[in-house]
Amino acid sequence: MTMKKTLAALLLGTIVFTPVFADEAQEKAIEYRQSVFTVVGWHFKPMGAMIKGEKPFNAAEFQRMAENVAFMSKLAAEGFIPGSDAKAGDTEAKDDIWKKPDEFKSKMADFEKASAELASVAKGGDMNAIKPVFGKTAETCKACHKAFRKD
Ligand code: HEC
Repeated sequence: MTMKKTLAALLLGTIVFTPVFADEAQEKAIEYRQSVFTVVGWHFKPMGAMIKGEKPFNAAEFQRMAENVAFMSKLAAEGFIPGSDAKAGDTEAKDDIWKKPDEFKSKMADFEKASAELASVAKGGDMNAIKPVFGKTAETCKACHKAFRKD
């Protein structure tokens, strides 16, 4: 092994074996859940544009996006680990998430349920059937943001 390679291996070893500190885990959790919601918003926005008629309705594309939102809805909750509040990093999550965990869980469950229903109704490709379920799903976003996200 050359000197350079040995040094690189040593440095790599240091990085690999550095313990993950608690606050680092919390920062990661914040990043994780913001990423999940970024993906949710990425799909939900064009879906909303199709609903409003600002974008031509493409049934297959709408269905694909609805399925993605339904899938992502199941991944958000695990990112709200204890201590991952405003003291841990750059987050818009309110402390009430950890003070009223049952209410937060119930709002997350509403979102999961509505988005699963939306993905299911989207299969039919019928805008008249999709519209009210999209509205219901959007209400679950708003309800949680109002209670648990800083604006
Ligand atoms: C059960 C609560 C809850 C539900 C339901 C919810 N959100 Fe959020 N959302 C949050 C919280 C809390 C944050 C702030 C996360 C943070 O900053 O750590 C957030 C952040 C976001 C963000 C910003 C992400 C970023 O880059 O920081 C977007 C976009 C978003 N939500 C979209 C949506 C949409 C669209 C829906 C519905 C389809 C939705 N959310 C449903 C709680 C929720």
